[in-house]
Amino acid sequence: MSENVIIRFDQVTKQYDNDTVVLDHVSFEIERGKFYTLLGPSGCGKTTILRLIAGFTEASEGDIFFNGNRINHVPANKRQVNTVFQDYALFPHLNVYENVAFGLRIKKMNQADIDQKVKEALRFVNLNGYENREITEMSGGQRQRVAIARAIVNEPEVILLDEPLSALDLKLRTEMQYELRDLQKRLGITFIFVTHDQEEALAMSDEIFVLNEGKIQQSGTPTDIYDEPINRFVADFIGESNIVPGKMIRDFEVEFAGKMFECVDQGLHANEPVEIVIRPEDLEITDWNQGKIQARVVSQLFRGVHYEMLCYDEEQNEWLVHSTKKATVGDAIGLNFDPESIHVMRLGETEEEFDKRLESYDEVSHEK
Ligand SMILES: Nc1ncnc2c1ncn2[C@@H]1O[C@H](COP(=O)(O)OP(=O)(O)OP(=O)(O)O)[C@@H](O)[C@H]1O
Ligand SMILES: [Mg+2]
Repeated sequence: MSENVIIRFDQVTKQYDNDTVVLDHVSFEIERGKFYTLLGPSGCGKTTILRLIAGFTEASEGDIFFNGNRINHVPANKRQVNTVFQDYALFPHLNVYENVAFGLRIKKMNQADIDQKVKEALRFVNLNGYENREITEMSGGQRQRVAIARAIVNEPEVILLDEPLSALDLKLRTEMQYELRDLQKRLGITFIFVTHDQEEALAMSDEIFVLNEGKIQQSGTPTDIYDEPINRFVADFIGESNIVPGKMIRDFEVEFAGKMFECVDQGLHANEPVEIVIRPEDLEITDWNQGKIQARVVSQLFRGVHYEMLCYDEEQNEWLVHSTKKATVGDAIGLNFDPESIHVMRLGETEEEFDKRLESYDEVSHEK
């Protein structure tokens, strides 16, 4: 294990009262100083992972390590982590200063040190001068920053943030995304951030864990996950995707929409059924007879930067197209795409198998 690893989950399972399994043999490593995001739909187990890290609940099976030491039974107040909760959980009867100072007072730190640390934490989140304000007199975004100041003042090694931006309006939310990312870089503390918003995850993270039904579906950098989704769930959850059934004919040749296409995938079985992903922005509109696929446009929307067209091919597959070119409803058009834009997903492939397969492509392309 690399010495950069600060948290490690080894086959962690969480089950409440012999009821349904909430986390199912989850394993991952968190490296020091990076920004991680747990992304997934409601109920997939994101908060449960944070609670296990913070020590608010215990694993049913498996091991949790912090700096190489097993911490399964270490109480919450002995762990080097602080949590920023979704509702911020600030004390409404205390002012900004006392909210931030709270943890330091519990530690019985002397007043001069508390003063200095609280000032510093408030400066970090751009709230200097707000010390004496009541919490009830702060806006949503300001409360959020108080909650972060309260977490960083304890100088934890890891900060856990459970959907901290979900209560904010879109504009403030975008601003806070920049601020949080910037803050994490300046502090150099490990952030584990929870969201069910894929755009937020793509914009902020060094690494994303995509969760569904208590299992990690895929982990990797935002571009890795966006460019090479492992399965239908991830492809659908991250960005917009066209997913159609297909068949791998042989290496570098795949069939879908009733035709054969050159692709970059290899090492699958001949005639293996697969699913094909092509991103809407990777489809190019051309004349009917110039396209690799022929399709009819059934709807068109202007999206500001691009037009969005929904089309059906001759096999009744649905194709969403994002293009700066406009096509009119009823038009018969051709769709073009590069072999690299065809992503072939094997049915039921594990992340390990998937990573191995992609690595072998790199080796082949280096040999070429
Ligand atoms: N104390 C508990 N007892 C029984 N089941 C629980 C308990 N806490 C959570 N669960 C269940 O565990 C599952 C995962 O919950 P969790 O809070 O981790 O989801 P989440 O991914 O954070 O969802 P959300 O996005 O809605 O916050 C849910 O089905 C939830 O009902
Ligand atoms: Mg949650």
